[in-house]
Amino acid sequence: MISSPFLPTKATIRSMIPLAPDNYLFQLQLSDASMRNCRPGQFIELWVPGVGECPISVCSGSVDGMMELCIRQVGRVTTALFQKQEGDWIGLRGPYGEGFPLDEYKGKDLVLIAGGLGVAPIRSLWQYILDNRDDFGKLIIIYGMRHSIDLLFRAEFKILMRRRDIEVYIAAEEIEGPALPPVSLQLGRVTDMLRLAPIDDNFQAAICGPPVMYKYVIKELEEKGLTHQSIWLSLERHMKCGVGKCGHCFVGGQFTCRKGPVFRLSDLEFLPEVIECS
Ligand SMILES: Cc1cc2nc3c(=O)[nH]c(=O)nc-3n(C[C@H](O)[C@H](O)[C@H](O)COP(=O)(O)OP(=O)(O)OC[C@H]3O[C@@H](n4cnc5c(N)ncnc54)[C@H](O)[C@@H]3O)c2cc1C
Ligand code: FES
Repeated sequence: MISSPFLPTKATIRSMIPLAPDNYLFQLQLSDASMRNCRPGQFIELWVPGVGECPISVCSGSVDGMMELCIRQVGRVTTALFQKQEGDWIGLRGPYGEGFPLDEYKGKDLVLIAGGLGVAPIRSLWQYILDNRDDFGKLIIIYGMRHSIDLLFRAEFKILMRRRDIEVYIAAEEIEGPALPPVSLQLGRVTDMLRLAPIDDNFQAAICGPPVMYKYVIKELEEKGLTHQSIWLSLERHMKCGVGKCGHCFVGGQFTCRKGPVFRLSDLEFLPEVIECS
């Protein structure tokens, strides 16, 4: 049998759950056992037969051979995916890249910061932490979006907000209409929530969001006393092969698909363009 890192393996779509306009949670039944070992922050290449591939973050742990992906319909591949039905199959290859540093996080206080669709990889991280709660210290989740209708994982946040061992702050720049199920939303940005949250220099930070968010979030974290050693960023670079061959993701001397997408900020200091342009 031919074996190649570029060959996708089949995954069957079990359910497609709408989360917000143009955003679905895809629950996939995996046929390849190696896919079950995805770590938070890693990504896979999703293939729609006859159309093409795109990189997508791992959004959950693997339970009973299933994987969840949170996908926004933006272009060719994702539009073709949204036309699929439950029971259809697609291809996956991976997992690829370096995820969040779970061993380094052990025993530490953590703040997870997500902007918009950046909540997808951050969700796999909080799920891992909650599955292994005793291994970690305090947990704060901060999530921001432009418009309240784009709030993803509403039902899950409602449950998280009831827990006593986590603090959750959610903010939208515009809030409109009643949210169902209702979650406690504040008017503002991620940086406003950061100012409210009880974070000190003992925390480690994990960040994923739109490019514009990074430098403001980093500034707030610096003001809370975090060093660049304690800040980890997931950078969504334009990627193609996912395995360091095509060069699409090469920036500042690094293949983002191999060395990232998660980077420690102190390792990026000689690569300011990575933060500015990611
Ligand atoms: C590590 C990583 C993780 C990711 N994780 C996720 C995830 O979890 N969920 C998710 O939804 N996405 C994720 N993405 C982003 C996703 O891979 C991209 O959005 C991808 O391009 C979608 O593929 P597509 O073929 O549907 O879109 P494309 O056709 O490649 O289009 C992408 C963008 O380009 C624009 N575009 C396309 N064609 C044109 C044109 N002719 N002129 C002008 N603009 C155009 C589209 O409007 C769109 O904004 C991730 C990316 C990376 C690198
Ligand atoms: S995506 Fe091809 S080299 Fe990184």
